[in-house]
Amino acid sequence: MLFGACYYPEHWPRERWDADAKMMREANFNVVRMAEFAWIKMEPEEGRFDFAWLDDAVALFASRGIQTILGTPTAGPPKWLLDKYPDIYQRDFQGHARGFGTRRSYCANNPVYREYTRRIVAEMAGRYASRPEVIGWQIDNELGAIDTARCYCEHCRKAFIAWLQEKYASLGRLNEEWGTIFSSQLYSDWEQLHLPAYSVHQGHNPGMALDFRRFSSDSFVGYQKLQIDVLREYGVDRPITSNLMGSFNDLDYYDLAQDMDLVSLDIYPIMKKVPEERPFRTGLNHDSMRGLKGRNYWVLEHQSGTPCTHAFSQTPKPGELRRWTYQSVARGADAIVYFRWRTLPYGLEEFWHGILQHHGKPGRKYAEVRQVGAELARLADKLRGTTVKAKAAIVKCFHNEWAFELQPHAPGFVYKDHLADYYRYFFDRHIPVDIVSPDTDDFSGYDLVVLPNLMMARDSVIRRIHEYVRKGGTVVMDFRAGAKEWNNRMLEELLPGPYAELLGIEIDDYGIIEEENPNGLAWNDAPPSGRARTWYEVIEPKGAETVVRFTDDYFAGGPAVTRHRYGAGSAYYIGTEPDAATLNALFGRIAGVIGLSPALPGLPQGVEAVVRSGEAEDGRVREFVFLINHLNGPVSFRLSGRHVDLLSGEAVEGAASLEPNGVMVLEKLG
Ligand code: GAL
Repeated sequence: MLFGACYYPEHWPRERWDADAKMMREANFNVVRMAEFAWIKMEPEEGRFDFAWLDDAVALFASRGIQTILGTPTAGPPKWLLDKYPDIYQRDFQGHARGFGTRRSYCANNPVYREYTRRIVAEMAGRYASRPEVIGWQIDNELGAIDTARCYCEHCRKAFIAWLQEKYASLGRLNEEWGTIFSSQLYSDWEQLHLPAYSVHQGHNPGMALDFRRFSSDSFVGYQKLQIDVLREYGVDRPITSNLMGSFNDLDYYDLAQDMDLVSLDIYPIMKKVPEERPFRTGLNHDSMRGLKGRNYWVLEHQSGTPCTHAFSQTPKPGELRRWTYQSVARGADAIVYFRWRTLPYGLEEFWHGILQHHGKPGRKYAEVRQVGAELARLADKLRGTTVKAKAAIVKCFHNEWAFELQPHAPGFVYKDHLADYYRYFFDRHIPVDIVSPDTDDFSGYDLVVLPNLMMARDSVIRRIHEYVRKGGTVVMDFRAGAKEWNNRMLEELLPGPYAELLGIEIDDYGIIEEENPNGLAWNDAPPSGRARTWYEVIEPKGAETVVRFTDDYFAGGPAVTRHRYGAGSAYYIGTEPDAATLNALFGRIAGVIGLSPALPGLPQGVEAVVRSGEAEDGRVREFVFLINHLNGPVSFRLSGRHVDLLSGEAVEGAASLEPNGVMVLEKLG
């Protein structure tokens, strides 16, 4: 288990470093993340490299038992470089150069920038590839995040054309797939192609817009790969990662993750606005990151103080840092690196608080982190090789998310919130669930696969879904499934198109449900008990049985939820967004039928329970149950069996309780 903080030696006087390292060691730190954003210190002027300060820092921390994860500095190109080649700046939607700010203003397709990237990464790699103190590498910083994923410059236009040529081979096919005959858009020469930039209000061809998102994502995947290749070329054999942002959807994280050795996450739980939603929203972020490669991950930025750039948001109260740290560990983090060690007295992030306040002395948060450090040091050996194991999966697909972002269908509809509604069922009931890619080779390890808004899917995915159900799996699909082809054309068949046989239904008619005018939902012949939002479909059963019906409007009495047996399995379909109670009851039934069970039965909502398990060296399966109280008050519950709480060292049997922010890590006895 790695435990530490982001440290920026360039921000502090050399004389201070050792005091910091010493304090870190006393808190059981064993790692710091350094050097991202320090290009100007590494290469103060073109071609003059200076790594003496970094050598010194790496060595000094190592002398205190603290190793280093090095970040490549490409998120923050120096001013001399941008002044020399202003063409490197991204162009925004309106064609304006983004200009010098703090970071990430570069175009990932700019050939000059790629050259300079290669050079600085090679300089670093040449120097640190074989240094034993360097135990991992981070590429850039939060690639594509915060509105920097799409650039509208001429280099991108050219690269987009090449990408389209590769994809469609002929312009005729592109015209056909995008349907450019609409509004005289036909392209007759590749050179005519443009980017979906500023235009009239109605915007762009959605096929083009979607392809541009895909292309932009691929551009960063390529940019990351370029750096990974340089590191490998110089013999780096330590894990290479880049820090991702949980629910951000600027780039296809599955593609980015493929080239990494392991995934990393930046997590700031207390920034999420609605306090009651924080546990499950951050839980979803963790599970999404674990799902990218189907294994444990690092947290390379973990909130450690008040997060704010211009206006303060909430300060973590006593016990909160510890609580959120345990949520991360519970859900599969094998490294906790806090952002940041000490709050800076200047610069854009002078309000962005770290473990130490501006004054740099050990205070309340340091004491808490130190406690966590001591605890994790005791747990580390036990947790090695363990992870979260789930029998249920939710498929998250960036391409569908993008398609819904481009065309939300219903006012206010947000793909990721819809997915979160499904996730919440599992989270609240402590049932482990993986968030996985639609391209997952094989769903057969799962008893249940939920596929929200699978409007488009590759043929191979469609095939795999059928195969999975035929062999006994259960799927839940929902509205708009199959409505589009992979390149955005609407399907010219009765819906749900490729899933008609699987789901045993037909859909000819559909529309939105306005917020002011919700529809009712009733369990088969029972009186109305729920509400339907957002979207309706007039479902004609063709072999499926009706589970829930709409109660109003011209389709009153028609199915809202159906179930169909297909091969040895079952396929459910939900033609609307049901209220939480109906959804929970539906999933309750499904979970009951297939036998999905909570990590620990009988826990109140608001207490999170997660199991990490795995084989120990002696071949025995070990199980650790993390219990985390997210409620404002204390909770009492009963545990069956005998456990030891590894944090307190005490045996727990029968009645147990947790204070607010309280955590237990239980191991079963006997
Ligand atoms: C992260 C970023 C860090 C720092 C932090 C606080 O998103 O990676 O470098 O900027 O936010 O703003």
